[in-house]
Order: sequence, then C-alpha cells, then structure tokens
Amino acid sequence: MTKFSHRVEQVSISGIREVFEAAGDDAINLGLGQPDFPTPDHARQAAIEAIESGATDGYTSNKGTRELREAISAKYDRDYGLEVRPEDAIATSGGSEALHLALEAHVDPGEEVIFPDPGFVSYDALTRIAGGTPKPVSLREDLTVDPAAVEAAITDDTAAFVVNSPANPTGAVQSEDDMREFARIADEHDVLCISDEVYEHIVFDGVHRSPLEFSTSGNVVVVSACSKSYSMTGWRLGWVVGPNDRIERMLRVHQYAQACASAPAQYAAEAALAGPQDCVEEMVSAFERRRDVVLDGLADAGLEVPTPNGAFYAMPKVPDGWCEEVIDRGVVVVPGEAFGEQGAGYARLSYATGMEELKEALEIIGDATRAVQ
Ligand SMILES: Cc1ncc(COP(=O)(O)O)c(C=O)c1O
Repeated sequence: MTKFSHRVEQVSISGIREVFEAAGDDAINLGLGQPDFPTPDHARQAAIEAIESGATDGYTSNKGTRELREAISAKYDRDYGLEVRPEDAIATSGGSEALHLALEAHVDPGEEVIFPDPGFVSYDALTRIAGGTPKPVSLREDLTVDPAAVEAAITDDTAAFVVNSPANPTGAVQSEDDMREFARIADEHDVLCISDEVYEHIVFDGVHRSPLEFSTSGNVVVVSACSKSYSMTGWRLGWVVGPNDRIERMLRVHQYAQACASAPAQYAAEAALAGPQDCVEEMVSAFERRRDVVLDGLADAGLEVPTPNGAFYAMPKVPDGWCEEVIDRGVVVVPGEAFGEQGAGYARLSYATGMEELKEALEIIGDATRAVQ
C-alpha cells in the first residue's frame, strides 16, 4: 500500500486546534488569530459587483489581475516609498500560500531555515514540507528577535531566515535598527530573508519598517495579506513581492499548485488596498484600547508580560498548570509551547474579542492565577 511521504509525516496538525476542542461551547475565546471586525463594505461590494458582471468567472493571470498588482505596487509606494513593480508581485491564497511559495522555491532538501521560537506555527511545518531543516532561534527578554542570534545561527547550509514583525504569537515589533540589521545579514551572508509582514498595519507604538527598504542585494522577499489588516481572513488573499528572478521561481510553484488566487477575493482585495484606509485606523485604535486593558488585567493578576507593540496578541509568562486552569474555567488561551520549545512557560492571548468579553476573561484569569500560585 502507498504509505506517506517522509515530509508530511514530519508535521502534525497545529496544537492550537486541540485547545479549541478542549474548551466548552460557551468559553470566551482568546485563542483566535483573526480580527473580530467585519470586512470593509467597499471590499465586499467590489467582489459582489465583479461576480455580477461575470468578471470572476474565469482564471485570472497566474500572478493575479493587473489591477490588483497595481494596487499592491501603489501600497508599497504609499506606505514605505518603495518601488515594487506590478510584475514583481504574486497574489496568493492568503499569506499562508505566499510563505509556502517562498520556502518551496528557495529551500533544497536538508537546507536550514532559521525562524523565531516561539514563532508562527507555519514556519516549522512549511520548512519540513519543503524538505528543509528547521533552525529555531530564541527571543530576547522583550520577545523580539536579536539579529545577532540570527547571524550566529547561519551556516553554509542556511537557505533562508524568517523575520516576522509585528509578530505572532508575541505581538513584538522589531525596531528600525533591527530591520536594517536583518537586511545587512541577508546582503552580507547572501541568504534569503523572508519577511512576514501580515500584521504590518497593526502597530501601536513606533512604526513598522521592512528589511526590503534596506537590502541592496535582492535577498529579501516580503509576504503580506489582506487577512489581518482588513479583517479578510476568510477571503484568502495575500501576496509575495520581491526581485523578479525570485518571483518567477515562486510563480512556478503557484502556477501548478494554485493557478491563480480566487478571482472574487482579488477584486475585494484591490478595493481594500486602493480604497479609504480609515477602516484600518479604526480597527488598530480598537486593538490598542484592548491591548491596554489586557496589560492592566495581566498586571493585576500578577503576571509578567512584555508590552506588545503590535498585532493583537499578548504573551505573558505563566506558572505551571496555568493554561489548564484558565481553560477549565472557560477561557481559551494557547499554551506557548504550541509555538515552539522556547514558548514553554508562556501563553498566547489574542484580544481580537469584544471589550466586555475581554474584561470578563481577565477577571477569570485573575482568579485562575491566584488558584495556581
Ligand atoms: C505571522 C503570520 N503569518 C501568516 C499568517 C497567514 O495568514 P493568512 O490568513 O493570510 O494565510 C498568519 C495567520 O495567522 C500569521 O499569524
């Protein structure tokens, strides 16, 4: 009988799902990695109009519609003053597919991929699926990645390193100096930097910068998506941008695995990117207010938590048995080890939840913390 590939046997379904299954139906869910806001109306309407006109009945070009890639290009100019040509972008099925393309196109079997630990679960799994070897690096006390740690982890076998700022699961935002360092490392060591910027707009203090702004060697590719910025996780629309030779290689994977991103989602994304951006600002302000409430609540519970400056996650240090106690009391949180070995002793809380539920959950967390200390 046909057995399973060695690569697929190396990955398992994310531990996050197990937590959801363990929780009761009426639990307050602080485990979700998606905004709780509606998709902006103008994005929805653009998809509806495109469907009604028949524009979405056929495949689009493999890279995505010219209009969407022009909107992506205009976005990089508007946000970072970066020139990204429409031909140097591929619209993908979410940031997830973009990460997959980047790794498939650049990692040979046995080559190493460096990424943060704790870090987003896909980096380890997609590295293994590409036949590569995961090389997790620990974080600083403030939960950012030290570029020096990445540089020290580079060997002759390194194919790529992943930067993720703002970060899942920590909410940490890398400084401009760090981003310059990541670009220098990519340039000097001639290794690929995959910059996962899906939370690029969700920054409270400081600004998001991209290694793409500082690299001169063509060794940076940027992954982003409409998913988090425009509350469009269900639409499955992301992209990867980078130097044309890298884009053309990633396109080979995309063309055969996907053909093109879903056409209705491409029209919605074009409207989201090219339309008014105040919906993003409103969502970010709401997240910032919730972040402050979460930080106060965790401090009141006596938990130590580095201030997250972006995304919608907080990652406190927690005592033994804390996650089980909190989950038993009806609040879903994700144990830090779901994000890597170094996540042990931490928990991830998502505050993509209404303020009232959040306050209620923090009360429960306070009681649970007292119970286990
Ligand atoms: C850091 C990070 N990168 C990429 C993704 C994938 O996003 P998408 O829903 O666009 O595939 C996520 C989703 O949670 C994420 O947290």
